[in-house]
Amino acid sequence: MISPRAPASSFAGFLDPKSSLAMKQSIAAAAAAALSMPLAFLFLLLCLCSSPVNSDLASDRAALLALRSSLHGRPLLWNLSASPCSWEGVKCALGQVVELRVPGMGLRGELPSGVIGNLTGLQTLSLRFNSLGGSLPPDLAGLLSLRYLYLQGNKFSGELPDFLFSMQSLVRLNLAANEFDGVISPRFNNLSRLSALYLEQNNFTGSIPELNLRLDQFNVSFNHLSGAIPTLFSGMPESAFEGNSLCGKPLSLCNATAATTRGHKLSSRAIATIVVASLLILLLVLAIVILICFCMRSAKKKHDNSEKTEAPKQSKIGIRAVRKASDVNNGFNSLVFIRKQQEKSFDLEELLKASAEVLGKGTFGTTYKASLGAGITVAVKRLKDVSDSESEFIEKIKEIGAMNHENLVPLVAYHYSKDEKLLVYEYMPTGSLSALLHDDNGAGWTPLSWDTRCAIALRTAQAVAHIHSQGPGASHGNIKSSNVLLTKSYEPRISDYGLACLAGPAVSPSRFHGYRAPEVIDVRIVSREADVYSFGVLILELVTGKAPSTSLLAEDGVDLPRWARGAVEQGPTAEVFDTELLRYQNVEEDMVRMLQIGIDCTEQSPDQRPSMAQVTKRMESLSQFHSFQEQD
Ligand SMILES: *[C@@H]1O[C@H](CO)[C@@H](O)[C@H](O)[C@H]1NC(C)=O
Ligand SMILES: *[C@@H]1O[C@H](CO)[C@@H](O)[C@H](O)[C@H]1NC(C)=O
Repeated sequence: MISPRAPASSFAGFLDPKSSLAMKQSIAAAAAAALSMPLAFLFLLLCLCSSPVNSDLASDRAALLALRSSLHGRPLLWNLSASPCSWEGVKCALGQVVELRVPGMGLRGELPSGVIGNLTGLQTLSLRFNSLGGSLPPDLAGLLSLRYLYLQGNKFSGELPDFLFSMQSLVRLNLAANEFDGVISPRFNNLSRLSALYLEQNNFTGSIPELNLRLDQFNVSFNHLSGAIPTLFSGMPESAFEGNSLCGKPLSLCNATAATTRGHKLSSRAIATIVVASLLILLLVLAIVILICFCMRSAKKKHDNSEKTEAPKQSKIGIRAVRKASDVNNGFNSLVFIRKQQEKSFDLEELLKASAEVLGKGTFGTTYKASLGAGITVAVKRLKDVSDSESEFIEKIKEIGAMNHENLVPLVAYHYSKDEKLLVYEYMPTGSLSALLHDDNGAGWTPLSWDTRCAIALRTAQAVAHIHSQGPGASHGNIKSSNVLLTKSYEPRISDYGLACLAGPAVSPSRFHGYRAPEVIDVRIVSREADVYSFGVLILELVTGKAPSTSLLAEDGVDLPRWARGAVEQGPTAEVFDTELLRYQNVEEDMVRMLQIGIDCTEQSPDQRPSMAQVTKRMESLSQFHSFQEQD
């Protein structure tokens, strides 16, 4: 990572009190930080005092009153003799209005020009579910801190104004259920911090542009959109696209739709031509198929005769070896699909022939990326040390396959033979959280934002809570950041769930070290409480940006829980956080609360740790997710 991170020696100092030099250095660093914090604060105060706070608030007050008087609806009962900061729906910070929320007040009319733009500190504006109409006033563009804009459920109309695409601070934008029209501009790409975009139930036309944003939430349902859904959105729920003439994943394939729509417009003569041509093509295909079958049969015979035949060259690594091993076995073609819909989308032969690339060597085996034809890419885990019989194995896999949650990596299929046990998962293109946090991701890479980290933490917690809700013995067993994979839109999907119970006695426990709860002796038996511990380490990792140790010797990482506790007890909390996070404003409180969750989860004694359900609740109460709930 290009970012300046605390050098390893500085936290080694915390860990090793004997090293007096490191100790002195860390004390000096702590003192410097302790000094610089109040200085910064003093500076802030000075700025605030010399710049007229009261006049800021006075102009905010005037803007609020002007807004109120230009809109009709239920009266906003604001006590004029009190500070505007006490008015309903208004929140202030540092002497400025930062939030205005007046949802569902029956407000009518058009937003006046040159009024809201005067609320220069505004971060959240919610006018949802009123009857406001017309266009958006251009002075909104001057709101440089506006992160959350909720205008859903009004009657705003016209094309989206140009200035919208210069509002770089927007994180969540909800324009749903209005009367906007025109196209969805690719200029949304300009809003680099945007993570939620709701455009459903408007009159947008044209196609969906390629939006290279990390959108957690996206909805364009019930517009007049047409064309293919960009592949980038293929992992999103169908309901985000319904009520349009769209095609492609997650909806049905495009060709079929295209053919039928074209068909309507064709003359009967053209149809006759097509029919004849199709028949000819059909015959040709039939001939080819017969030929291929014939060739394959003779090839297979040849193959059986000479067992030294290698798998095709395009197979780069590893899986080639699988072929020989399973070839010997009788169950050669047994790839069992978990879900009916996916059945036969490929077979074992294709899988083994696919070009493969090692993604990682994990606790339970090596994972490969396999690129099959027709754009199918899957992740294949080649399990090692499985001692279960076939029926035991299948029983456990069924349980794993039945765990259905949007934040678990879906298991697609499995293969069991004497020598090979393969698990086929959906492939997650963005890689693992561990890689995003700790690897050098090259120039131009932006470190994960605080919002993204919060969303990842919450969704991961929900998925683990889901696993824990499956039954008394249900646990994940191997929670760590390299098992949290991300979709293109940075939605987390947990992998490796349920594999701990498949592992044979040979699995080495040291690999678990940084995440392993102190009470865990046998890594195949991991309680829910131990899951909570591992999850706590993951939270500390997200908040501090530090990698937990992966070996017993703590050489390549830190004992994160111990380090975080020590750092919180000893010194200024700002030292604890990932330096990448210090540039975000107004999130300190959430960061401290998230850190506390991590610390509570990593209590030494299992019965002092919160349950995953409690953890989820606490995360949902972070102010961040308060504003998230607004979308409903
Ligand atoms: C896109 O953002 C840049 C600043 O990054 C800004 O100068 C430009 O005007 C924006 N484009 C549009 C179309 O608003
Ligand atoms: C999208 O919006 C529609 C309402 O128009 C809603 O029914 C659907 O659940 C939403 N889907 C997603 C994924 O947000």
